[in-house]
Amino acid sequence: MAIKIKGTGSCLPEKVVTNFDLEKIIETTNEWIVERTGIEQRHVSTGESAADLAFEAAKQALAENNIDGADIDLIIAASCTEEMSFPGIACQVQTSIGAKNAVAFDLNAACSGFIFALNTASAYLENGIYKNALIIGSEVLSKVVDWDDRGTCILFGDGAGAMYIEADSTKPATKFIQRSDGSKGQVLKLTNRENKNAFFEGESETKYLWMDGKEVFRFATRQIPDVINELLDASNMTVEDIDMFVLHQANIRIIENISKRLNADLEKFPSNVSKVGNTSSASIPILFDELRKEGKIVEGMKIILSGFGAGLTYGASLIEF
Ligand code: COA
Repeated sequence: MAIKIKGTGSCLPEKVVTNFDLEKIIETTNEWIVERTGIEQRHVSTGESAADLAFEAAKQALAENNIDGADIDLIIAASCTEEMSFPGIACQVQTSIGAKNAVAFDLNAACSGFIFALNTASAYLENGIYKNALIIGSEVLSKVVDWDDRGTCILFGDGAGAMYIEADSTKPATKFIQRSDGSKGQVLKLTNRENKNAFFEGESETKYLWMDGKEVFRFATRQIPDVINELLDASNMTVEDIDMFVLHQANIRIIENISKRLNADLEKFPSNVSKVGNTSSASIPILFDELRKEGKIVEGMKIILSGFGAGLTYGASLIEF
C-alpha cells in the first residue's frame, strides 16, 4: 500500500518584504543576502495566524477533488510557530473545514515537520488505520525571529502548504527515512515564552530564534546527501531514476551544494527560495503546490522530498506522483 497525493494547496500572506525593505531597518544589503542565500524577498504576516494560512492552503488541497470535510479521516499540521499551543492548528482547521469525523493533531519537527507529518500519515494509511489524510505545514516565523539580528531575520518568511493524500493499494509502500540528532540541538533553537513562575530560579532565555548558521549549513550539506543516498539504495534506485528533488527551501547555496554532493543535475532541484525565503515546515508543500500549478509535476514522476532543521531533524521520502 502506498499513498497517492490527490490535492495540494498553498497560501502566502499578501505583504511582501524585499531585501531593499530590510536595508532600511537593519545593516545589510540586497547584494549580501542574495549572494549568501539566494533570497530576494519573503512574505510576512500582517496579522494572519499560522492557523489562518493553514486553513486557506487546506481549502485548496481539498477543493481540487471536491473533498467533503466530513470524509477526512486524519489531519496533521506541522508547525513550530503556532499562535496557540492548544487548541492546535490541526484542530482549528478541522473546525473550519467541517472535518467532524477526523482525528486532528499537530506535530513539531521544525523545518522537517512537513515530511515527518507526511511520513506519519503514510504509516497510518499504509497500515489500513485510516483511508485518507490532510497534511499541512504552516508557519509565521516573522514573529519569532529577532528583527535586530541580521544573521537570521533575512532568512525566514511566512506561509502554509497542504496536501490531501489517499491510500493507494495498487503500489508498494512509500519509502522514507527520518532521523534526529538531539545532541546538536543547541545550534538552532527557539524559547517560546518566559517563565513567570514566582518559584523559578533559573534565567529566562531569549525568546527569539537563535542559530549558529555555519553549523546548520554544515549539517544540512552533509546529512541530506547521505540520507538521500541511503533512501536510493534502499529503493534500488540511483539519482538518475529520480525526476525531481523537492528539498526544504532554506538557502540556495545549501541546495546547490547538496546537488553537487549527490552528483545530480541542479535542474532537478527546483527552488522558490528567492521569492518566499525559508518558510520552515511550509516550504516543501508550498514549492510542491507551485510546481504542480505550473505543470512541472506530472503523473508518474518519481520525486524525493527532503527536509532538515532544528532538533536537529532530517529525512527524505520517495514518492511516485
Ligand atoms: N548583511 C550583511 N552582513 C551580514 C549579515 C547580513 N544580513 N548577516 C551577517 N553578516 C555579517 C556577519 O556579521 C559577519 O561579519 P564579520 O565577519 O564582520 O563578523 C559576516 O557577515 C559573515 O557572517 P557569517 O555568519 O560568518 O556568514 P555566513 O557566510 O556563514 O552566512 C548564513 C550566514 C546564515 C547565510 C549561512 O551561515 C547559512 O546559510 N547558514 C544556514 C542557515 C539556514 O539555512 N538555517 C535554517 C535551516 S532550517
